[in-house]
Amino acid sequence: TEVYLNGTFMESERARISPLDRGFLFADGVYEVIPAFNGVLFRIDEHLARLERSLGELQIHNPHSRETWQMLCQKLLLRNGGGNASVYLQVTRGTAATRDHAFPMPPIPPTIFMTTAALNAETAVTQPDSASGAAAISADDPRWARCDIKSVSLLPNAMLRQQAVASGAVEAILTRDGFLTEGSSTNVFVVKDGLIATPPLSNRILGGITRDLVIELCRKNRMPFEERAVSEAELLDADEIWISSSTKDVMPIVSLNQKPVGHGRPGEVWKALARRYVEFKR
Ligand code: PDD
Repeated sequence: TEVYLNGTFMESERARISPLDRGFLFADGVYEVIPAFNGVLFRIDEHLARLERSLGELQIHNPHSRETWQMLCQKLLLRNGGGNASVYLQVTRGTAATRDHAFPMPPIPPTIFMTTAALNAETAVTQPDSASGAAAISADDPRWARCDIKSVSLLPNAMLRQQAVASGAVEAILTRDGFLTEGSSTNVFVVKDGLIATPPLSNRILGGITRDLVIELCRKNRMPFEERAVSEAELLDADEIWISSSTKDVMPIVSLNQKPVGHGRPGEVWKALARRYVEFKR
């Protein structure tokens, strides 16, 4: 795999950064994961807008224009063979002379890193009738109060995902103060009596690009949908649970904490949405 590091495309084995990089020392940076199908980036403008917002919240100067970012993503994809892949893009504050919590003044050049990974375009949505769905666990959300920033500080997310994997599940679905927030790396939707709901945007969740797409499709197709607080009781009692992300699309969760969700199979509302989703996306 080729990667991009600070202006140069190179083989990943050749890429080097300093241990004084603030990404390494403080997780002082942000990232994006952008999917591409047949070499075409999906919702790139939305991802780059979110990148800009995350950088702004950390007071890191955006090193590139949208056009340049898009060109760099496209070039790296091509150099790695195109096809179905996700582009991982990370910007950290950069390498300071000494370790000091405060931001270096004047600002230092950021460290820009990009790589790609193969992406399986065959997710549950592409075969809604034969999809088997996945297992999840629920857990307390132990994260900080700025989950709206797509920060590379992902230790709680990694620990939660590990907890899920250790119990044979794909995702940990989180609640905070008795209310659903999101998954360790996904947004969450619940369905009860045909009504779809997802928590509203706030500092407690990441504004997912896939979440926006699901909402857009629900509205466009007049599927009953609400953006509102969802209690833990509602999560545990849902007829359907879905998780969404750029790499998973929208995936049905058929068991939560080893107990079936609804009938324990992908639900009819999800199937209807999945058909709209693939129509729109591919
Ligand atoms: N994760 N919530 C969290 C905490 C996430 O990390 C992600 C994405 C999402 C979904 O966002 P989107 O639909 O824009 O991908 C929600 C990426 C894929 C990752 O960390 O690999």
